[in-house]
Amino acid sequence: MKAHLVLLPGDGIGPEITEQAKLVLEKVSQKFGHDFDFSSHLIGGIAIDSTGEPLPEDTVAACRSSDAILLGAVGGPKWDDPSAKTRPEVGLLQIRKELGLFANLRPIRLFDELVDASPLKREIIEGTDILFLRELTGGIYFGEAGRSGEAEEEAAFQSMVYSVSEVERIVRLAAKAAQGRQNRLTSVDKANVLEPSRLWRQVAARVMREEFPDVEYDVVLVDAMAMHLINRPRDFDVVVTGNMFGDILTDEASMLPGSLGMLPSASLGAGGPGLYEPIHGSAPDIAGQDIANPLATILAAAMLLRHSLQLSEEADAVEHAVAQVLSDGLRTADIARGSEAIGTVAMGEAVIERLSK
Ligand code: IPM
Ligand code: MG
Repeated sequence: MKAHLVLLPGDGIGPEITEQAKLVLEKVSQKFGHDFDFSSHLIGGIAIDSTGEPLPEDTVAACRSSDAILLGAVGGPKWDDPSAKTRPEVGLLQIRKELGLFANLRPIRLFDELVDASPLKREIIEGTDILFLRELTGGIYFGEAGRSGEAEEEAAFQSMVYSVSEVERIVRLAAKAAQGRQNRLTSVDKANVLEPSRLWRQVAARVMREEFPDVEYDVVLVDAMAMHLINRPRDFDVVVTGNMFGDILTDEASMLPGSLGMLPSASLGAGGPGLYEPIHGSAPDIAGQDIANPLATILAAAMLLRHSLQLSEEADAVEHAVAQVLSDGLRTADIARGSEAIGTVAMGEAVIERLSK
């Protein structure tokens, strides 16, 4: 298979981890007889520094004409001034919106070898396997925002808007995903307080009743969900929720497997290229030191193989190689829990070596 892949390394540790994932993809392409070519483009803070914009036009064009996109991370203290004209994160939000990537898949999967790296007890987390579907192009992230007034009277607002069609499409996708798993779907909202959540709840209930009567369905309020995730994570299969609740709950859920450094995500739309990235951010404090964990990005590359290129055997091979390095005892600092750690490059090389076998 021939595929053109766009790399968006971004800021902080983004370039180092993206490089390791690219090397893994090159290995896959060689081993399975594919022809992947890569081009790298600017996004985030580095794009602001060189073009003034967090998402230059030619980056968007390159993404549009690609088969899939692999992104590192954006942001850092250098661009954090709240009064700045633009921000690195705007680039990420824009590319999601431009490409219509309304569904963000965030699988929370435990690696047996890392169960003891989790801050939670083994008996609570063992057996956890959750797929989050976070709505990604609507809600408060994209609502009208602004400021008014002056001095003590200055105020800011940002509105949360969801339409029926936005809820329908993400709930449908989540229900289909559930059918391929344990056939259970949980929708998370804040319908006791927020109007858009009440619309979300009504629409989700209707879609489930009319189109997926076979899927076991329930609803949970977001504050309660924050608690259940820590208390009984095993009880959930597929979880669907809005943009901001999904952002927060998936960072929380990332602690179940022990490290944010292990979790990939896929952002998909209705056709067109998908965008794959680790859930973690740019970690500027450890950038450029060869200590970041590249495994989340490598696992994101596996998701890319599976969802955008339909190469499931290749995706399995990458995931298997990652499981193998872990069972061989290799750890980057974030998952080492005080024992000996290896660097970013060595971890990438170890995965590639397992893939070669
Ligand atoms: C994420 C990140 C982004 C988000 C930021 C960097 C804009 O936290 O992908 O979860 O809030 O969506
Ligand atoms: Mg986040």
